[in-house]
Amino acid sequence: MTETSFYDAVGGEETFRRLVHRFYEGVAKDPLLRPLYPEEDLTGAEDRLRGFLIQYWGGPNTYSQERGHPRLRMRHVPFVIGEAEREAWLKHMRDGVDSLDLPEELESRLWTYLVNAAHSLVNSPT
Ligand code: HEM
Repeated sequence: MTETSFYDAVGGEETFRRLVHRFYEGVAKDPLLRPLYPEEDLTGAEDRLRGFLIQYWGGPNTYSQERGHPRLRMRHVPFVIGEAEREAWLKHMRDGVDSLDLPEELESRLWTYLVNAAHSLVNSPT
């Protein structure tokens, strides 16, 4: 018997596509976060975040094939991330998670992970 991954349980690629797309719709209009993203077009950033989350939750490892080891802390060093940035990031992620209408247990696993990951990437006291 093979165990179903979280990735499959929540609906596979389509679910992560919706989550991350919704998230970046929020970022695109966010006056605090938008200036942090170096590229004018957010589609590359959307691909990277979606690929990472898919891999993390047990889907295909395309992210690491293209980007190598995630090293998220290191990759966020160029961006000043304080509490305000973290909370703005989580607000848009919350919108994305809410839009999925997942069963409560899956939703809570996903949300707990995102909150912890966002806290771990704060790199500035302000
Ligand atoms: C990349 C901001 C939290 C995963 C980025 C980028 C920015 C950013 C500005 C560069 C965009 C690009 O790829 O061109 C933030 C802020 C956060 C945050 C302000 C607030 C705490 C997170 C969290 C995760 C994450 C919690 C994972 C759960 C990623 C990934 C990339 C990325 C995978 C692309 C890395 C790469 O392959 O280069 N982030 N981020 N970020 N972020 Fe975040």
